[in-house]
Amino acid sequence: MDIAVTIKEVRKQVSEWRKKGLSVGLVPTMGYLHEGHKSLITRAVAENDKVVVSVFVNPMQFGPSEDLESYPRDMDRDAAVCEDAGAALVFHPEPSEMYHSGFSSYVDMDTLTGGLCGKSRPVHFRGVCTVVAKLFNIVVPDRAYFGQKDAQQLAVIRHMADDLSYGIEIVGCPIIREKDGLAKSSRNTYLNDTERKAALILNKSLSEGRKLINAGENSADKVKELVTGIINTEPLAKIDYVEVVSWDLLEPVKEINGPVLVAVAVFIGKTRLIDNFTV
Ligand code: PAJ
Repeated sequence: MDIAVTIKEVRKQVSEWRKKGLSVGLVPTMGYLHEGHKSLITRAVAENDKVVVSVFVNPMQFGPSEDLESYPRDMDRDAAVCEDAGAALVFHPEPSEMYHSGFSSYVDMDTLTGGLCGKSRPVHFRGVCTVVAKLFNIVVPDRAYFGQKDAQQLAVIRHMADDLSYGIEIVGCPIIREKDGLAKSSRNTYLNDTERKAALILNKSLSEGRKLINAGENSADKVKELVTGIINTEPLAKIDYVEVVSWDLLEPVKEINGPVLVAVAVFIGKTRLIDNFTV
């Protein structure tokens, strides 16, 4: 496995593969890789001849008061995880390689990005779309892999790929959880022991919400009430949002009679965690 730090190196490698007629999968990440990321890489390796994993903590998708500086990083371990999972190339650029001085072009979206995480993170999706569009242009993969863990991001990238005619298959992958149900996240490392226990309230509340829907409840408000009530029993939890939206355009629904996304964002202490399910 090789590690490339420049766009030029990636293009050279991919063009050699293309000359041999090989298919290419891309797994974009911000590193500090865990089993969730690894499941994406493993899936990509199974479905493509060569897999590129990008490891780049993208400054553009962090707001001014967010955790860009403290975001966990461990490139040596990440490289080992990628190699172990069968990736052929890791792309690990410096911010200056991705954003030269004077950078001023962005990919933005009028729909899908205003609600859910976009509400409390107003610059986030512009940063995500711009960096993913750049990665698509650099690697030009056949398929790109994203986790359902970041459900809004997955929907946004699908929409962007379609709007901008990328012709890249966007593959959504299931949420990987800890044994006790907490969705794996690089940000879980911020939690102390007490917060780690409190964080279980996300999955617990969503499981009850899912049960209620499976039992035939179709009022989105009733589901939101139940999930909100359960999260509020945890003193360390502060709700950012509890939402039920359509699972395509992410528009709030009143009645659950088609595919919906039930998503929550909750602060546990200072750490903002997200989780969701789709039905
Ligand atoms: P990051 O948070 O590192 O996540 C990279 C990919 O791994 C995303 O598609 C995310 O949904 C997926 N992922 C994270 N935790 C997961 C879990 N527990 N189960 C399954 N998949 C999981 O998301 C980003 O980076 C960035 O926004 C990025 C797309 C790389 C753009 O900078």
